[in-house]
Amino acid sequence: MNIVITGSIAFDYLMSFPGDFLEHVKPERIQKLSLSFLVDEMRKQRGGCAPNIAFSLALLGEHPIVMGTAGLDFGEYRIWLESSGVDTSGIKIVPDVFTASFFVTTDQQQNQIASFYTGAMAHARELSFYDFDRPVDLTIVSPNDPEAMDKYPAECKALGIPYIYDPSQQIVRSSPTSLRNGVEGADILIVNDYEFELLKDRTGMTDADVRAAVNRAVIVTLGAEGALIWADEKIKVPAVPPQQIVDPTGVGDAFRAGLIKGLALGLPWEVCGRIGSLAATYVLETHGPQTHYYTLPEFVSRYREAFGEDAFTSII
Ligand SMILES: Nc1ncnc2c1ncn2[C@@H]1O[C@H](COP(=O)(O)OP(=O)(O)OP(=O)(O)O)[C@@H](O)[C@H]1O
Ligand SMILES: [Mg+2]
Repeated sequence: MNIVITGSIAFDYLMSFPGDFLEHVKPERIQKLSLSFLVDEMRKQRGGCAPNIAFSLALLGEHPIVMGTAGLDFGEYRIWLESSGVDTSGIKIVPDVFTASFFVTTDQQQNQIASFYTGAMAHARELSFYDFDRPVDLTIVSPNDPEAMDKYPAECKALGIPYIYDPSQQIVRSSPTSLRNGVEGADILIVNDYEFELLKDRTGMTDADVRAAVNRAVIVTLGAEGALIWADEKIKVPAVPPQQIVDPTGVGDAFRAGLIKGLALGLPWEVCGRIGSLAATYVLETHGPQTHYYTLPEFVSRYREAFGEDAFTSII
C-alpha cells in the first residue's frame, strides 16, 4: 500500500521557560508587547507534520512516502528518516534556503509561544501528485505551505486519490473558500476541538454541513478526553493515560499516524482511533515528536493492556 504523507518538514527548537508566561503579561500594557523569556533548556529536534506522522507510521511497520520540501540543512535529517523506515524519495531539496523552523517555548503550565519560519516549505506548492511514478492509495494533507494545501486536495480529487484533510493550525491562515474546498470531497477530516469550532466559524458551515461534505468520517481530537469519530454514527474513543507527561509537541501528528495504520489495515473506526490514541500517548511521554521508540510487538502489548483484545491485536 502506497501511503503518501504531505505536510511541513521542519526543525523544532524546543525551549522550556521555568515560570509562567501569564505572570509576565500585564493586561494594562499589551498595547506594546515586548517580552523576553530567559530559557534554561533548548533542544533542536527533527519535526514538521509530515515526518512526524511518517516516523510513527514507520514504527508501526508501514513504509510511508513523505512528499515535501526541505532546505540545505536537511542532509542528516534524511538519513535519520531513511534509517527509521521512511521513504524520503518524495522530498525535494530547495537550494539556498533553510528547512522550515519552528521555535517554541513552553512554560511550566504547558502554555506555548511559537514562531514558524517557512523557508523551503514555501516551495511545497511546486510538488504535484501528477509526478508520482506509483499509484497512491491514501494520502494526508497536513499543515504546509497554504498554496500547497489548496493544490493537493484539488489534485487528489482529480486523480481519485482518497485524502485525509488535516488543516489544523493552518486554519487561521486559510480563506473560507480554501477550507471549504479542502473539506468537500475529503475522505476524512481531522482537527482538534478548538480547530473544529474555528473551521465552522470561518466557513459558516454547521456540524451537519461539514459531515455531509466529507466522504467517510469527521474526526475531532479532544486532548486528554480522547477523540470523537463521526462516521455513520458518532464513536467516542478514549485516550490512553500516559505514564508521565513530558512534552505535548507532536501528539496530534502521532494520533494521525495511528489512525492511518488502522485504515491501512482496514480496521473498524473505533480500532483506528484506539491505535491513534496509543500512538499519541507515546509521544506525550518524551521530549519532541520523534524521540519515542517502540517495536510493533511492544506497541501491541501495551494496546492490549489498554483496550483488551480486538481486531487489531488479532491481525498483528
Ligand atoms: N493528556 C493526554 N493524555 C492522553 N492522551 C492525550 C493527551 N493529550 C492528547 N492526547 C492524545 O492525543 C490526541 C490528540 O491530542 P489533541 O486533541 O490535543 O491534538 P492537537 O491539539 O492537535 O495536538 P498538537 O499539539 O499536536 O497539535 C488525543 O486524541 C489523545 O488521544
Ligand atoms: Mg494539532
